[in-house]
Amino acid sequence: MKKLKIETHLEVFDSLSELPIDIQELMNKAHEARENAYAPYSHFKVGAALRLDSGAIVLGNNQENAAFPSGLCAERVAVFHAGAMYPGATITTLAITARSLKHNVLTPIPPCGACRQSLAEYEVVQKTPMAIYFMGERGKVVKASSVKGLLPLIFDSSYL
Ligand code: THU
Repeated sequence: MKKLKIETHLEVFDSLSELPIDIQELMNKAHEARENAYAPYSHFKVGAALRLDSGAIVLGNNQENAAFPSGLCAERVAVFHAGAMYPGATITTLAITARSLKHNVLTPIPPCGACRQSLAEYEVVQKTPMAIYFMGERGKVVKASSVKGLLPLIFDSSYL
């Protein structure tokens, strides 16, 4: 029997102001997108902003539905939006932010498992890591340098 050890290295910043200005700008776009989320059921608004290698910024926010599973998370709205608008473009950075209308969200909110899998598809295809920054409405920001840092043992097309 062999043991497989999986390590993840994430960076934690005390506040957004510690990060470079281009990351602050991207996160501020995510904050703006978050406020436009359609979240009448969970009252939990999530915003995502991604930057492409061209410099273009693409936004996403969660879109809920009365038939709950028919809604979609902010991160997938953002990457699918990018895939539709700029097919083949490389995503360099993704910023994610969340706010609840019911309580303060001061801990960084990571993308859900399904979103990590969707993000992985884009990272594998573009053959370039995408940096992911996530936070709550304010406070600490977590950085993963690659989707791999958030989703070890990625299932990708190489297994098909
Ligand atoms: N949500 C996201 O937008 N991203 C995530 O990664 C986690 C959850 C949304 C889905 C739903 O609209 C609300 O947050 C509560 O789960």
